[in-house]
Amino acid sequence: MRGGGPGKIRVKSAKGRTAQSTRWLERHLNDPYVRKAKAEGWRSRAAFKLIELDEKFHFVRGSRAVVDLGVAPGGWAQVVRKLAPKAQVVGIDLLPTDPIPGVTLFEMDFMDDKAPAMLRDALGEAPDLVISDMAANTVGHAQTDHLRTMGLVEAAAWFAVENLRKNGAFVAKVFAGGTDADLLAVLKKHFTAVKHAKPPASRKGSVEWYVVAQGFKGRPEGEGEG
Ligand SMILES: C[S@@+](CC[C@H](N)C(=O)[O-])C[C@H]1O[C@@H](n2cnc3c(N)ncnc32)[C@H](O)[C@@H]1O
Repeated sequence: MRGGGPGKIRVKSAKGRTAQSTRWLERHLNDPYVRKAKAEGWRSRAAFKLIELDEKFHFVRGSRAVVDLGVAPGGWAQVVRKLAPKAQVVGIDLLPTDPIPGVTLFEMDFMDDKAPAMLRDALGEAPDLVISDMAANTVGHAQTDHLRTMGLVEAAAWFAVENLRKNGAFVAKVFAGGTDADLLAVLKKHFTAVKHAKPPASRKGSVEWYVVAQGFKGRPEGEGEG
């Protein structure tokens, strides 16, 4: 690696590295959000996506009990703890996450049948915010990648609908410009406001968007509010 123009890092191609990964590395190293995240102590550039979404929709501040799906490496959980210091946070990821004070972490698959109950028990009360930044590992086949990620989003949405406290919020990464019609219908049925947003920190070229569902209407009578 060597310095390029003023402040710009250029990455030499190297044996064993494809042109595509060289381009990714160069873009990553020159990404102002990556630099800013490092300077400010956030574990991921994704932290800024949550900060920007919250600036627009105001769902983090004031939250009490939060479930973070796809928590690793922990940027979003850090943001929640910073903006809502009293919030209890429970996170889950397939990958290990270094400890974060005030956050209970599970290293397991959210799609595991046991995961929802573990998250609920660890929180000890109904969440008022469920956030999901989960994305399936891409295999390069657009339709397969889309379906796999939508499967995760749907599971996250159902978890939110089955567990949220009244007036709670659900925020999740979705792909390809929005939410599938079926999922959108479910969210519109259960939340008073459902919006899509692409925060400035989300790369322009990426197919990633976020769905922000607020004002959970509550579970039907008889299901309790936790
Ligand atoms: C974009 S990263 C999350 C970044 C995080 N929001 C942050 O700010 O640090 C997506 C995460 O989703 C996780 N993930 C994907 N599928 C999952 C699953 N089935 N169960 C749990 N985590 C999953 C991945 O391991 C990955 O760490």
